[in-house]
Amino acid sequence: MMYSEKVLDHFTNPRNVGELPDANGVGEVGNAKCGDIMKMYLKIEGGVITDVRFKTFGCGAAIATSSMATEMVKGKTVEEALQLSNKAVMEALDGLPPVKVHCSVLAEQAVRAALSDYYTRQGIDPEPIVGKIQEVDHDHEGSCGI
Ligand code: FES
Repeated sequence: MMYSEKVLDHFTNPRNVGELPDANGVGEVGNAKCGDIMKMYLKIEGGVITDVRFKTFGCGAAIATSSMATEMVKGKTVEEALQLSNKAVMEALDGLPPVKVHCSVLAEQAVRAALSDYYTRQGIDPEPIVGKIQEVDHDHEGSCGI
């Protein structure tokens, strides 16, 4: 399996790893089949994401995509972060092997889950804004791990 330099860089040196005790948007998504879990913490002030951390229990591509996703949403408005797609994350990483595309969906959904939690805490129904958070499902027997 071939990973780009950028994927390997973010996998071996992930950015923004950890937890944020004062986060006001926290989301967790999982993949039923491989059991990978991603947790995203956002600190949002005045509609802007001022800080972000993540924890991923998962494969190399899941770690690299969540790391890149945190870099892409930091400093952005909530509305801009809602536009983040797994495709944009993959492009920023110079691509992923086809069997690893679903891992980037996990990163996209983790950001959305955290934004959804943020809206809920504001007393706003998140679903019309954020949509439904998907359970990421895929069949990739034997492709977990780097
Ligand atoms: Fe399951 Fe990457 S998220 S292999």
